[in-house]
Amino acid sequence: MKSLIQLLSKFDPATGQIAGAAATSRYLSDLGSCFLDTAAYQSALQAGNPLVYSVASVALGSGDGDLHYGLGKIMPGRVGSEYYMTKGHFHAWREAAELYIGLAGEGVMLLEEEVSGSTQVVPLRPCQTVYVPGHTAHRTINVGSVPLTYLGVYPAKAGHDYGAIARRNFSKVLIDRNGQPVLLDRSAAVRS
Ligand code: F6R
Ligand code: ZN
Repeated sequence: MKSLIQLLSKFDPATGQIAGAAATSRYLSDLGSCFLDTAAYQSALQAGNPLVYSVASVALGSGDGDLHYGLGKIMPGRVGSEYYMTKGHFHAWREAAELYIGLAGEGVMLLEEEVSGSTQVVPLRPCQTVYVPGHTAHRTINVGSVPLTYLGVYPAKAGHDYGAIARRNFSKVLIDRNGQPVLLDRSAAVRS
């Protein structure tokens, strides 16, 4: 049996920390391939290198039935008219699904199915869950004015495949238009 300290975790949505868990921080300079507007990205970087998001992760076991989970915190902000967001990934083990649980703030999940390329935009808000099926790239976007925090629970053997998204990015972008998030084809957004 695992010890109580392993079975129980204490997390703080305000700080994005899980007691005793390691956290990964992603700064603006880590997200070069994510944003559509490269000129806006470069000028934002010249002004500084802010923290865009952090993820504290708990990875207790590595067996087939084990679960890992993470607490994500995405800061509010934009690059050009595109909101702060995560890199986004497929799971290396493509069958792995994930459950996201909204804790605070106002977010959106951009889902893109690998084979069909079909896209869905699903709100991520407090007391709402978003089920991310297997074979689906997922990116989390803060469309609000306060930090967005959420838990993501996934099979221990899911793994992360960032390469496919880093190469071609998501086919859709979520743009702020007059205070409202609007979904556009990446190719159309480049021209607009
Ligand atoms: C794990 C998962 C989340 C993300 C987190 C950061 O499978 O989906 O915990 O890792 O939202 O996003 P990425 O990993 O895309 O930087
Ligand atoms: Zn995931």
